[in-house]
Amino acid sequence: MSRRRQIYEGKAKILYEGPEPGTIIQYFKDDATAFNAQKRGTINGKGVINNRISEYVFTQLQHIGIPTHFVRRLNMREQLVRQVEIVPIEVIVRNVAAGSICKRLGLTEGDPLPTTLIEYCYKDDDLGDPLIAEEHIACFNWASADEMQDISSMAIRINDFMCGMFAAIGIRLIDFKLEFGRLFEGDFSRIILADEISPDGCRLWDMESNEKLDKDRFRRDLGGEVEAYQEVARRLGLLPEDVNNNDVVDLDSQRKKRGK
Ligand code: TMP
Repeated sequence: MSRRRQIYEGKAKILYEGPEPGTIIQYFKDDATAFNAQKRGTINGKGVINNRISEYVFTQLQHIGIPTHFVRRLNMREQLVRQVEIVPIEVIVRNVAAGSICKRLGLTEGDPLPTTLIEYCYKDDDLGDPLIAEEHIACFNWASADEMQDISSMAIRINDFMCGMFAAIGIRLIDFKLEFGRLFEGDFSRIILADEISPDGCRLWDMESNEKLDKDRFRRDLGGEVEAYQEVARRLGLLPEDVNNNDVVDLDSQRKKRGK
């Protein structure tokens, strides 16, 4: 039985047609992938936590004037967002060396970068999302110069805000990935923040212990993925102190049984 039309299924989310034209429902799955989906698994309850964390971060960003696609959270796994045309670029913001840049440039993981660095990857799974320069973006017209100006200035503002937000709860924001979309209004379009912001697409380290509280726990087989995601949600004040993951999963399965 299908109540609505599925538009797209990605690695961690499913997109459904929304209730009104120009809207979409984002459903957050528990599926986890890494290394361009060569590694696959499930993190129980991840979708519920990411839905909540992403709602919180997007709402905070809206408060500081960043335009986003987020409208409202609908239930434990779904949120209503505005339909956009996704710009085919992953925007990676890095404060501290970690992950692929260490391999590429021979850096030591954990070393602060001299300045915040923005990198761009071309969104194409078949090609493994290759790193590109702004010249490629201009050459192939993936985004205009004006759009890139909006994207890079928003990325820096988002980074400044999120560094402070996470520092306040004892977490160091190492790096993260953003996606932007074009919102069409008549003949014009403007750039707004899209996709999600969650421990799936950020590196988050505990400030005192350097413990990883993000998807690197899955990528690197460290274990404790659910606990790490929950810890982030708990420190953001999104989970009551006494709620554990079994409660999250229980609530979610009750919701599914009710058919919502
Ligand atoms: P990287 O070190 O693998 O290039 O990743 C940099 C950051 O971007 C890290 O926080 C994870 C995030 N990221 C995604 O969210 N999706 C991706 O496909 C990739 C490659 C990275």
